Amino acid sequence: TFRITMFSTIAGWSALTYLVWKETNPADQLPQTELKPTGNKRKKVVIVGSGWGAMSFLQKLDTTQYNVVIVSPRNYFLFTPLLPSVPTGTIDQKSICDPVRLIARQTPGEVQYMEAAVTDIDPHAKKVYIEHKSDRLTIGDAFINDNEPIRAELDYDYLIYSVGAKVNTFGIQGIPEFASYLKEAQDAVAVRQKLFNSVEAARLLPEGSDERKRLMTFVVCGGGPTGVELAAEVKDYIVQDLSKFIPNLENEMNVTLIEALPNVLNMFHHKLIEYTQQVFNSQGVHLRTNTMVKKVDARNVYCTEKKADGSTEDHVIPYGTLVWAGGNAQRKVTTEFAAKIPEQTSRRGLLVDEYQKLYGVEDVYALGDCTFTKNPPTAQVASQQGHFLADHFNKLSKLDDLKFLANQEKQPEQVEKLHKKIQRTESTLLPFHYEHQGSLAYIGSERAVADLSFFQWSTVSVGGNLTFLFWRSAYVSMLMGVRNKVLVTTDWIKVAIFGRDCSKDN
Ligand code: FAD
Ligand code: NAI
Repeated sequence: TFRITMFSTIAGWSALTYLVWKETNPADQLPQTELKPTGNKRKKVVIVGSGWGAMSFLQKLDTTQYNVVIVSPRNYFLFTPLLPSVPTGTIDQKSICDPVRLIARQTPGEVQYMEAAVTDIDPHAKKVYIEHKSDRLTIGDAFINDNEPIRAELDYDYLIYSVGAKVNTFGIQGIPEFASYLKEAQDAVAVRQKLFNSVEAARLLPEGSDERKRLMTFVVCGGGPTGVELAAEVKDYIVQDLSKFIPNLENEMNVTLIEALPNVLNMFHHKLIEYTQQVFNSQGVHLRTNTMVKKVDARNVYCTEKKADGSTEDHVIPYGTLVWAGGNAQRKVTTEFAAKIPEQTSRRGLLVDEYQKLYGVEDVYALGDCTFTKNPPTAQVASQQGHFLADHFNKLSKLDDLKFLANQEKQPEQVEKLHKKIQRTESTLLPFHYEHQGSLAYIGSERAVADLSFFQWSTVSVGGNLTFLFWRSAYVSMLMGVRNKVLVTTDWIKVAIFGRDCSKDN
């Protein structure tokens, strides 16, 4: 046993050291040039976005075959599955951010990155219009810049469009002004600050006062996985950590989750839905299902509950911190782009064929949450689409070179050989097929739920503490770089030893 333990420890550390070395010492990249060694044009691929779709595409693309440019206002990839752990300090925000330049540096060919947002696309002229807006920095006068956007345009041969989605507020009054979201890293930091502000302010008020109760109420609207995971993390934080810093506070703090439908986590097996509701009840998370949010203001959520007998009842729920997790809507740039293309008839996202190619325009492909397909808007789908498309593009490049060589070739038998190769390569261009590997969600008090799929024909629905360990290991393995795997694991160890960090401003 001793030898096996020693051997596996040494093997484990050696593997980790190798991976760290590989990530920190990437090989030299082939520079971008106009022509490939064959003399064929090296085509320009513009990738829009730095999320799941875009970065999965980049990781698998043979970047020596194309001149690749990434355009995104966010200079890092965000590992969203662990975002609900950030507001409470279970995970440090930086641990789930992976710089675009670091990811790009790991690929074999040079990749350019432009920190800018795409504002418009002309698919006929094959141009994208971009805009860089520096945020106004307030840390010392010397760093303040003028906030004037810088505009530019880029040509492309192929456009890979993966700008994700924005939060859907359904036009409900007050949400943009008063609620926080949980979509981006800065949203998580904002939620953290609001939560801590509310708690500290409430502590100055007389016990039992309405205002103190209001400030101690954390309301999440939307019982999809985002809302459930956030409510679970906040409750954990209150019970496990805040209670130690401010004893008895856990009895005053209230976490409420409001959901319009009869259940939360509707994509999960009904047994797991029941299990989640049971865990929430035992943990004291107030679940208000069948309750539709109608309006919010600076202090209250106004909602209507639908009762079992069909009658309705209006409620006013005062809150100290409010998070809206009502699902996805398309970004303005996507709806404006779609409006230019008659074949794009859906308001729910871009329509693509089985190769992720946009209907109605040439050489534009779309991935992830900005598309409307039969698959759900998840990281799992976006990353599989990205990997698929990269493989498709690697083959397209090969095909393009073969066609170029066949056109140049004078010898008929060589031409025939090349045509056979072209046919063989074309026959490998298979359509995208999504393989659902399962759904996972954290539900609090070190429990998770999982609907796991095996080979498309079998699913297992499990929930509990072991599933929680599985949830953690699955997410660590899904993190893109070794750096993030180390950081996230270290965060969990830190929390297990020292508890969660309750300082407000980081
Ligand atoms: P995103 O990952 O959102 O990336 C969009 C990118 O486009 C970003 O880099 C953005 O900065 C950039 N961009 C935006 N506008 C522009 C513009 N105008 N020009 C250029 N770039 C632009 N899914 C799962 O499968 N499992 C999970 O556990 C899970 N957990 C989640 C937890 C949370 C809190 C959230 C919010 C989502 C979660 N998801 C999960 C869903 C998953 O994050 C999304 O489905 C996934 O991010 C979609 O990938 P995407 O590439 O389409 O978009
Ligand atoms: P969602 O669309 O899954 O859930 C939003 C919820 O808000 C719905 O249940 C809806 O009924 C509710 N809602 C909408 N309007 C409301 C109103 N006025 N009043 C009360 N409730 C209202 O959105 P979510 O959770 O942000 O997820 C977005 C996508 O990301 C989904 O595809 C989801 O599967 C994926 N995701 C997956 C995770 C995981 O697998 N662990 C974690 C987080 C997100």
